[in-house]
Amino acid sequence: MKQNNENFSQIIPQWYLTQGRNGLPWRKKISPYRVWISEIMLQQTQVKTVIPFFNKFIKKFPNLKSISKASEDEILALWSGLGFYRRAKNIYKTKEIIKSEFKNRFPKKFEELILLPGIGRSTAGAIMSIAYNKPYPILDANVKRVISRYKNINLEQKDAIKSLWSLSDIYTPSENVFEYTQGIMDLGATICHLRSPMCSECPLNLSCESAFKEFDVNKRNKRQKLTKRINFTLAHSNQSFLLFKKNEQSFWESLWIPYDNQYQDFDRIFKEPRKTKIQNLFHPLSHIDLEITVKIFDYDKPFNIDTNLEHQWINKSQINDFGLPKPIKAIIDTYV
Ligand code: ADE
Repeated sequence: MKQNNENFSQIIPQWYLTQGRNGLPWRKKISPYRVWISEIMLQQTQVKTVIPFFNKFIKKFPNLKSISKASEDEILALWSGLGFYRRAKNIYKTKEIIKSEFKNRFPKKFEELILLPGIGRSTAGAIMSIAYNKPYPILDANVKRVISRYKNINLEQKDAIKSLWSLSDIYTPSENVFEYTQGIMDLGATICHLRSPMCSECPLNLSCESAFKEFDVNKRNKRQKLTKRINFTLAHSNQSFLLFKKNEQSFWESLWIPYDNQYQDFDRIFKEPRKTKIQNLFHPLSHIDLEITVKIFDYDKPFNIDTNLEHQWINKSQINDFGLPKPIKAIIDTYV
């Protein structure tokens, strides 16, 4: 504890011990590896969505040793449906770096962690504090909300983030760091809600500068999302599907998807199918909405195609070994 912040820094770890979510799977059997995987998953996804993905991931790759030989596709396969797939690619890159530069031991220093792909200041702080019990601050969305309300800092103001980092650093205690870090995240998630915070149940309500204030968080004039139309062709034969690896730096990068009709070699690839079916889907992403039309072409048997695009006929029984976007997986899952 670095200044006059006994209140905040002591109350939170105490509160965590009785009221925190200490049953979350990544809070058991703590290891830097498990904390890393969970923190990456939790960067853009809610706790309740992450839990089954984390359990599945850890079942297949329980530690650094087990993931060290994994291919990028194997990691993406476990990420299927979780979204923000760059995170999975960064896990692949990071474990390769840990193998080649750290003798496959998880780095122990903040300065090493922050250089790894996908690990920013807050994630590095979370790993240091949760896995190594070292006093490093974090500043994810929940922590930003808790501290900005506690000190009544307007998030719109210039330098707000700088001030919040500085406060987060001051508040991070030198003891009970594990409980403090998990506690402040939990307080943000379970009490200090964005709308209607439950101030009467908050352990900080005597000293919080915003306690019991009305929060008129008008659903921020959300930017209108753009809509993108996509036309896919999905060739199907005997429970196998012709999929293409998306090698474009945008959403779904490196996932396996049907043929995108915007490519130029449609006529060279697809012969007349035995049967055609059309499915229309709407799939919102964080930044754009996708309107997708999938033409499903049925064939008697799989055929070779002449294209430079990376592709593969994938049997349904192997589909879980590949990273597929959720709506495409959903279509394939309807074929029993
Ligand atoms: N969000 C980010 N990290 C978290 C953690 N360790 N527990 C709960 N929510 C989180």
